Amino acid sequence: METPVAPQKKIIFSGIQPSGTLTLGNYIGALRNFKKLEDEYQCIYCVVDMHAITVRQEAAALRKRCLELAGIYIASGLDPKKNVIYCQSHVSGHAELSWILNCFTYMGELNRMTQFKDKSAKHADNINAGLFTYPVLMASDILLFQTDLVPIGADQKQHLELTRDIAQRFNGVYGDVFTIPEGYFGKVGSRIMSLQEPTRKMSKSDPEDTFIALLDPPDVIRRKVKRAVTDSDAEIRFDPANKPGVSNLLSIIAALNDQTPDQVAAELQGQGYGKLKERVADCVIATLEPMQAEHKRLMADKAYLQGVLDENAQIANKMAMKTLRKVQRKVGFADRGR
Ligand code: TRP
Repeated sequence: METPVAPQKKIIFSGIQPSGTLTLGNYIGALRNFKKLEDEYQCIYCVVDMHAITVRQEAAALRKRCLELAGIYIASGLDPKKNVIYCQSHVSGHAELSWILNCFTYMGELNRMTQFKDKSAKHADNINAGLFTYPVLMASDILLFQTDLVPIGADQKQHLELTRDIAQRFNGVYGDVFTIPEGYFGKVGSRIMSLQEPTRKMSKSDPEDTFIALLDPPDVIRRKVKRAVTDSDAEIRFDPANKPGVSNLLSIIAALNDQTPDQVAAELQGQGYGKLKERVADCVIATLEPMQAEHKRLMADKAYLQGVLDENAQIANKMAMKTLRKVQRKVGFADRGR
């Protein structure tokens, strides 16, 4: 098979969990910027279903969300011939490298991971070993592809640091096996906050009415925006410290229209919050509707979507195997006859 992978390009790897739904915050902060990367970089987008089962998942729902998530990436405009979009569990190298790197990671390092602490508090009835070694699997995802750049939010910085430490440790023993990855922080976009608690980041793990999901239909978007928290002084002004709710709504419009929040505030000067919310809903719907229509079309054509995932898994597998075989040889695993 002809591989579209251009090895001279820098490699970007991003893992996305198929748990819960993506939000407008994910779209503004990450997804919509990925299209711009596809010519300059070799981008790899991995649906990390193996990470997802560190907390209990309903099998049928997880299966559906994996396909749905891949569909969202493509519907957002990413060309599946230029970007490698695939499911983690389809490429066995993730698990194989992960085992090896487990043996190069210290319990103390994993014990320090704040996400582990948070998640074990949240899922106290299921603190499994996978949850503990989650960061090692993530390191394997990244290192398997000799990744140069990893687009991540602040919550994943500690995991990336650990990935770098593991890679450096391994390289220290065996020579230059792994590329040492760096974080990729695109132009600082606005952080989209919760509609109900606008001092917190919009998050898919919060209650339903606090976020806009990428697949929310227009009437749901309107309802959620209408109920968004504002304040009682009725002045449209961008002032995150004193008016977090209103400022968040202004930021959403600004991000979607490539304006500054102050510009948006000036345009809406003297209007009521009702008008502001109407504008927010209009902008969000105008942005999401075409993507949702394309997503619907893709989901109705499962054979196509499955074909894309299969093909891309093969490409990913080829890339992954290169690293994996090298690593296996370095650590002294028995040679293969062929
Ligand atoms: N841990 C990441 C998150 O929860 C998901 C992830 C898994 C990831 N593997 C990755 C992100 C590799 C970047 C690179 O968001």
